[in-house]
Formats: sequence, structure tokens, C-alpha cells
Amino acid sequence: MARLDPHSYADTNQPQTRSIELDLRVDFETRTIAGEVALRFDASGAGPLDLDTRDLKIESVAALDGAPLAFTLAAPEPILGARLRIELPQASSGVRIRYLTSPQATALQWLSPAQTAGGAQPFLFSQCQPIHARSVIPLQDTPRVRITVGSARFTVPAQLRTLMAAAAKGREAAGPELATDVFEMPQPIPPYLIAFAVGDLTSRPLSDRCAVWAEPAVAGAAAFEFAEVERMLAAAEQLFGPYEWQRYDVLVMPPSFPYGGMENPRLTFVTPSLLAGDRSLVNVIAHELAHAWTGNLVTNASANDFWLNEGFTVYAERRILEKLAGREQSELHAAIGRHDLEVSLERFAMRPELTRLRTELAGVDPDEAYSNVPYEKGYLLLRRLEELSGRAAWDGFLRAYMAKFRFQSITTQQFLDFLEQRMPGLAARADALRFIDGPGLPADAPRPQSARLLELQKLAASGALPALDLTPTELLVYLQSLPPSPSIAALRAIDARFGLWERKSLELRHTFVLAALRAGLPGAIEGARRVALETGRMKYLRPVFQQLAKSDRAAAERIFTEVRDGYHHVARAVIEGLLR
Ligand code: BES
Ligand code: ZN
Repeated sequence: MARLDPHSYADTNQPQTRSIELDLRVDFETRTIAGEVALRFDASGAGPLDLDTRDLKIESVAALDGAPLAFTLAAPEPILGARLRIELPQASSGVRIRYLTSPQATALQWLSPAQTAGGAQPFLFSQCQPIHARSVIPLQDTPRVRITVGSARFTVPAQLRTLMAAAAKGREAAGPELATDVFEMPQPIPPYLIAFAVGDLTSRPLSDRCAVWAEPAVAGAAAFEFAEVERMLAAAEQLFGPYEWQRYDVLVMPPSFPYGGMENPRLTFVTPSLLAGDRSLVNVIAHELAHAWTGNLVTNASANDFWLNEGFTVYAERRILEKLAGREQSELHAAIGRHDLEVSLERFAMRPELTRLRTELAGVDPDEAYSNVPYEKGYLLLRRLEELSGRAAWDGFLRAYMAKFRFQSITTQQFLDFLEQRMPGLAARADALRFIDGPGLPADAPRPQSARLLELQKLAASGALPALDLTPTELLVYLQSLPPSPSIAALRAIDARFGLWERKSLELRHTFVLAALRAGLPGAIEGARRVALETGRMKYLRPVFQQLAKSDRAAAERIFTEVRDGYHHVARAVIEGLLR
């Protein structure tokens, strides 16, 4: 008995799934999916097989030849969901399961037409990271078990289209008003990367291997915003080696998408809040693109090693930015990251164990442990390793690391062992274990350095207004560097110069709203309400509601009541936690 992932019932002594076939019938009326999945094992086996499920109704379980199999669905556990135990007869090579998802499936958000840009058609999307795949498919829901998808068939209303983070294999008619979209994923992926969306979607080409998908109403804006994607992909290939996933497309989601972006293979999902109109937020694309190497090729073995995915990806994101926009620009982003890290460290002051890179999340919901720490503290550790070893040697290490562990899921210990083997003594010189197993941030962690950064920080501290021609990133650094409670007059002057209330970029506007709430600037509550109505992205909602609850609790509750039904369940849970 070896259950190696604290968030899965998967057992390494049992057969491991190697590939799946999926047949999903999507019903917008009942907000359910009637599914059939075939799991094929890497080697035939017998005895119990434990799968992860959440809120699934299991209709039947059979061997691949159709012979019915006995199964028991255990009572649900709050974090893990319900264990499905199947009794495998001798020499079983797989199982076939028929099931029904719940309207509350945690991986799915069903949107009414009013919640979309077009307003005419409904929309459905999945978000499986970290442990929600089990609410759409019964499987071994741990990144340790990588699977290919032999075929995935989605039967949907004919006026809609399915996109899957996979290779498209065409569309078949399926009755008068239904169509079936077919996909396959030949590369082995962790289950959290299974992803799809169904809606009124259209595409614009960006290059031979890149396109952007969106609802028709936003497709033009999206094509403008993401015009640089091919350049980013080429820069990433120069740094990390060939792109392994054939296509790189971007799908712009409806506003309730709770993340900035999600690195679904071949098809990054992004929040429409990236459409600032000035390409100022494309670092999120650089980030998701970088995951094609750090995360999707080399994957964390469990939520305890999440920093291997995100810390490496933030590091890679900034290397791509440095290549395309220069060191000053990437240093400004590092400074913003450091600011965000400090906010997160403060948030977890009472839970210092969550500020380690290597965590112990048995009994902890990974959605609750989520923060900037694995991202930015992880980035700082990798940056320190780079600084101590020198860029050329470090880049050699990164390439060797990716070559060694490609298409594998690894622990922090495997990273440390490989580091020691390739760069003996480096981890000790960097005091890496203090980052990895220690709480908080070591005082001598690297600090971003740039002339522009110093200038902006000085200006912010002195109360002087900067010149008009700040880039959006510079303006954000300036706003983040303002003293904790600037005066109303100072904020009015800043707004008069930079028009912050009217900014499309929520990166800027929400930062100004936070300062305005703290200062008690008239209109601040309404500014916060507009942010809460416009986006479901947790990065903006969490700080805005947190500050709102401090400034005017009644307003916070009133606004949340107004918006909560439109939010994704993870965002809703975050705000409920804040207001509790
Ligand atoms: N993989 C994450 C999003 C995620 C993490 C979803 C954990 C569910 C559970 C994605 O790559 C990410 O990090 N997005 C960031 C982008 C930012 C760091 C540039 C985001 O959403 O803000
Ligand atoms: Zn990421």
C-alpha cells in the first residue's frame, strides 16, 4: 500500500492508468455531463483499484470487454472526495465507467448567456488544477499518474463549439441539434491539465502555430493584445529548447475565470482582464507559455511540490521578458513580485508552515494554501542559484534538468538530488534548504535592482508626481511604492495625472482602489464595486474585498451579495473566508 499523494486515493501498488478514452455528453439544461471513460492500464493487474471521484454518480463499471465489475463508492471526504474502489479480476487491462457529473462539479462552471461577452449563448469551462479533475472524470487524480487521451468526444449543442487542450480531430453531426467534437492528446499529461470549454467561440491566427480563441465580441481585441505570442514562443525555445506541444493557442475566457491564466497544454486559458488594450499584461502569457516546459514537461509530484511548477515558471517568465524587453523591464516585474510576496507572507503570518516552499498539505485543501509564496519565493531561490553559479552554468543546469525529467512528475527532493549531482555544493552555498523548508523569506534573499526602480521608489516616497510618460508597469511600481496611507490630496493628484479610475487595466485600477479605500477617497467604494462586477479573477478580488471589509464592512457584504452568484466557486469560497 503506497499512497504517495496526500490529495489522492491513487495507490502505487495498484495498476496505473496510462491512457483514457472519453465520451462526454454536455447538457446545458441540467448542467450535467453524462460521461463514459475507459481507463487503460500500463500493465495488466488484479485486485482493488482505487480512483478519485467528487460528486459523481457512478452508473456502471465494467471490464474493457463489457463484463460488469463490482465497485463501492465510499462516503465523501471533505478535501479528497469519494473513493471509488473497483474489484479487478485476474489480468485486467482496464475498466470502463459510466457516470453523471453534478451541477456543483468543482471543476466546472456553467455560465448563463448573460455571463458571457456575447450575451446570447451559454458557456461551460473546466478548471481542474489542482484536484478537480475527479469531479468530471473518475480517475487517479494525482500528477504522478500521467495519461494520454486516446480520444475525447464531446457532444454539445450544434451552435456551440468545444475546445479542448488537446489536438482537434474534427467534428461530426450527432442528431438534429447536436454535434460531437473529437480530440486526442498523444503526450502524457497529469490529470490536472485536462481542460475544455464549450461556447460561441471563434479564432484569429497569430502565426503558423499560434492562434487566439474568444467569443466573437472580443476576438479582435484579443488578437491585438496577444500579437506578440509567436515572439515569446521563439524566445522561450531559445532558452529552454524546442516546444514539444505542436500548437500554442490562447483562449480568452468569460470574466468569471478565477485565474489570470491556466497553462492547459496547447491551449492556455486566460482571463479577459488581460485585454487592457496596451499589451501591458502579456507577462501572463509568457508565464503560461513557460509552463509548457516548467510544469507540463517537468511536473510537481503533488501539491507539496507546487513551487517546482510555479517558482520555475516565474523564473522562466522573467527570462523571456528579459530577452524581449530588456533587463530593466524584467527587474520591474521582479519588484512587483517581491511586493506581492510580502503581502502573502503577511497573510500567512499565523500559518508560517504555508510559507515554506516544500509543504506538508495532508489534511489541507490546496486551494486554501494557494498564494504567491511558491511563485515568488521559489523565483528568488532560483535567482539566487543563478547568481551564485553564473548564468551560463545555470542555463546549462536548467536544460539538463528539463531533459532529465521531461514527461515526469518529481518531488522537491529529486530536484535537490539532481542539483547536487550536477552542481555539487551549490545548494549549500545558497542555503537552499532555508528557502525550501524554512518559513518566511531569508533576509539576504536577492533583491531586484534597476535604476528605474530606484527612481520610482524615490518619487513615491517623496510625494512627488512622476512624469506623464510612465509605462503601465512603471506606474504600477510607483503605486505599489506609495506610503501605506497616502493623503486624499495626493491620490487626487495622481488620479488627475494618470486617469486611474478609468483605466481598463485592473492591474492598475485595483491597486489604486486599494490606496483609495485606505485613504477614504470619495468614490472608493464604488470603484471597488466596479472591480468586483467586472472580474472574477481572485488576484484582484481578494485584496479588494479584504480592504473593503476593513474600510466598510457593510459595503463589502452588500457588494458580495450583488456579485457572488456570478463568481466561480473557488473565488466565492475565498471571499466568504474573508468576510467570515
Ligand atoms: N497554474 C496557475 C494557475 C493555478 C494554480 C490554477 C493553482 C489552479 C491552481 C497559472 O499558471 C498561474 O500561475 N497563473 C497566474 C499567472 C501569473 C503568475 C503571471 C495567475 O493566475 O495570476
Ligand atoms: Zn503558473
